[in-house]
Amino acid sequence: MLRIENYSLSLRNSKKKEVKILDGVSLALEKGKCLGIAGESGSGKSMLSLSIPRLIPPSSIVETKGEILFEGKDLLGLSEEEMRILRGKEIAFIFQEPLTAMNPIMPLQEQLAETIYAHEDNITEKEVFTLVLRALELSGFPEPEKYLNAYPYQLSGGMQQRALIAMALILNPKLIIADEPTTAIDVSLQVQLLERLKSIIKSEESSMIFITHDLGVLRVIADELAIMYCGLVLEYGKCEEILKAPKHPYTSDLIAALPRLSEAKALPKAIPGFQPSPERRPAGCVYAERCSKAIKSCFESRPYLADCGNGVLCACFLSS
Ligand SMILES: Nc1ncnc2c1ncn2[C@@H]1O[C@H](COP(=O)(O)OP(=O)(O)OP(=O)(O)O)[C@@H](O)[C@H]1O
Ligand SMILES: [Mg+2]
Repeated sequence: MLRIENYSLSLRNSKKKEVKILDGVSLALEKGKCLGIAGESGSGKSMLSLSIPRLIPPSSIVETKGEILFEGKDLLGLSEEEMRILRGKEIAFIFQEPLTAMNPIMPLQEQLAETIYAHEDNITEKEVFTLVLRALELSGFPEPEKYLNAYPYQLSGGMQQRALIAMALILNPKLIIADEPTTAIDVSLQVQLLERLKSIIKSEESSMIFITHDLGVLRVIADELAIMYCGLVLEYGKCEEILKAPKHPYTSDLIAALPRLSEAKALPKAIPGFQPSPERRPAGCVYAERCSKAIKSCFESRPYLADCGNGVLCACFLSS
């Protein structure tokens, strides 16, 4: 249902120089499945996901050789009006910060109804009300009627996050993109929300892209996993397989950096050094300077994604 093919995006820096933020990203997502995207801060996860509904900065330069195919339609070729129709109705976005994504002076019911009116002209008030209640119920409001007139500040953090999910789900979108939707809430609520999102994509037959730093969360929710670093995908394939037997040294290092309750006294292993900024992306492997396994050729030429078996692609000379 979604295929991103060789997608590259550049932005201009303060000196007006073009900087490549995403470099030849290719990913795919099937109906009813969840694709997880993980990677360090600044690796390009948000830029990539915002590229799908074209919510990227207006000055972005998108290379014409790339494609973003949604149900066979190339989204990069759509006009702004065609894109507006898709946004919210077919492709919905759940943002990280609920309070900044909601209108503080509008009751919940009206905010939800607004999304419907933006896309449906011939709809009765009664139909809108039914859709609002259904979305609130789906996203986990126990007694939705009670919350219809609530303002965002009257909702707890978890309720606000659920309200955002309701806004995203209200028109039954085919693709839900969730950019770190659970980082602002506590762990037990996180689990509840993840279970809910998982059952929604199953029952509604929609697909989801789920972005997070937290590989533990992705283990629960994602079918496929893409590991991003410095604007590139370094490992991609079946989530379970990657987490069980990571092929790329960066993925192994990310997993080793996860805190584990079972090893109470052992601190997780931090990855030394920093991710290079896209302005200083090395010509060879982007991870080479931090990689404990790097060999001479890793610094000289760039490895591209190649099949390593078991449904996993990996961009590493040592794994192919
Ligand atoms: N509006 C912008 N203008 C210029 N550069 C930007 C802009 N937004 C992001 N970038 C740069 O693009 C790169 C990718 O950023 P992005 O926000 O996609 O990272 P991310 O993986 O989502 O990080 P995080 O985990 O912190 O959300 C970074 O180098 C960032 O500095
Ligand atoms: Mg981000």
